[in-house]
Amino acid sequence: MLQDCVRSSGEYMYLEIGSHLGGTIQPHFIDPACKLIYSIDKRPESQPDERGRSCHYTDNSTERMLSNLSHAFPSIDKYKIVNFDNDASDLDPGEIIEKPTLCFIDGEHTNQAVFADFKFCLQVSHANAIIAFHDTCYIFKGIKTIKEYLSSHSIQFRGFMVGGSVYVILLNEAINNYSDKIEPLAINESEYFRNAGKKLRKVRFKSGYPRLYRFLQMGKRILKSPTKR
Ligand SMILES: C[S@@+](CC[C@H](N)C(=O)[O-])C[C@H]1O[C@@H](n2cnc3c(N)ncnc32)[C@H](O)[C@@H]1O
Repeated sequence: MLQDCVRSSGEYMYLEIGSHLGGTIQPHFIDPACKLIYSIDKRPESQPDERGRSCHYTDNSTERMLSNLSHAFPSIDKYKIVNFDNDASDLDPGEIIEKPTLCFIDGEHTNQAVFADFKFCLQVSHANAIIAFHDTCYIFKGIKTIKEYLSSHSIQFRGFMVGGSVYVILLNEAINNYSDKIEPLAINESEYFRNAGKKLRKVRFKSGYPRLYRFLQMGKRILKSPTKR
């Protein structure tokens, strides 16, 4: 849907932070309306996460991503993708010459990183861009900070929690241009954030105190099981 929005006005540029194997780059790679893709991925050996654990991505490299894409779509020019093996905060915004109208943030899933990634996207993207986030179930506090930031800087926006743990921010004229397409997909944001918070607390407790968690779960099962006479 987000792709439909930006391609409806003709050519578009796409920027993704956290490209990994190129899964979410694919639809833009094969789309003739997408003229250029910026792929930003620091490709660290492991990355922290709001769940309180580290995520490992083995053999994570730009070469592997490009080879996957070339293999799947041999007729498409891989030079359509401009790659940066960096953290977005270490990149010179001047490197992003063609302003993307769609940015997708799926890098390090911490509130701090998502805020930094968002500020980079805001700086380099088109004024009327769409900026979307994956795995909102982990970084919903980062989204709240982003919304406060936009309000405090008097930047016009609308935010929508949609399916697949994706959060969408429409900036400036994108609000009028695309709200009617995105709004029908939206779910209740406060309820989603509240439930995500509950689940995250449970997961954090489980990874911080695994033995205590198992002990408490065992207690629960015993209390639930019918008493034998
Ligand atoms: C969940 S995966 C992304 C999946 C990808 N969008 C796909 O569809 O295949 C997260 C990616 O974020 C990258 N990453 C981790 N820390 C990062 C950072 N600080 N900046 C940019 N990317 C980062 C990892 O290397 C990893 O490839």
